[in-house]
Amino acid sequence: MRRDLDRILIDRARIAERVREMGVELARQLEGELQAEGASPDEAGHAVMIPVLTGSMIFVADLVREMPMKLSLGLVAVSSYPGKSMQSKGASIASELPPDLAGKHVVIADDILDTGNTLALVKRLVLEKKPASVRVVVLLRKILPGHTPPIEADLVGFEIPDEFVVGYGLDYDGLYRNLPEIAVLRPEAL
Ligand code: PRP
Repeated sequence: MRRDLDRILIDRARIAERVREMGVELARQLEGELQAEGASPDEAGHAVMIPVLTGSMIFVADLVREMPMKLSLGLVAVSSYPGKSMQSKGASIASELPPDLAGKHVVIADDILDTGNTLALVKRLVLEKKPASVRVVVLLRKILPGHTPPIEADLVGFEIPDEFVVGYGLDYDGLYRNLPEIAVLRPEAL
């Protein structure tokens, strides 16, 4: 696997440190909103985390363990880059949203905001369920010259240049998700 890599863009230690900061910040914001609703800490409701599968699974697994609060997980599957695609084919949803989002504080979490089509679709569908609040959290935000995405994330781990990256959940043709770093592939591997 490693011989296919051109270079490491973000190493394990930087990812871990940033994900820890993001989890703490997100939990602080959500706890504030839940308690502002007037309930005592024991009676306060819980937030709902919606990981956008498959790419977000490793990021979210680490993120939620940095959030010491009541939280449920409801998965959604969306595909934009099937197989060997390196250009978005347009986001298509492959599963139902989790039920009972009305009145809930919802966090949509994904590994990367690239064109923004995936998260724009998921957020639109979540908003139709009338949640109390919606946040979008991404580990990576790709900066595409001349492109303004249809959605912005409320919390971003790292901004990255316009390069095709893999690792820490991100794949090329289904592979490299288990790489612990964020890396750029050698052109010959594509
Ligand atoms: C990737 C990634 C994001 C999306 C971002 O998913 O995980 O969900 O693309 O791209 P966008 O901002 O241009 O829409 P992909 O379609 O590759 O599916 P996967 O999560 O199963 O890898």
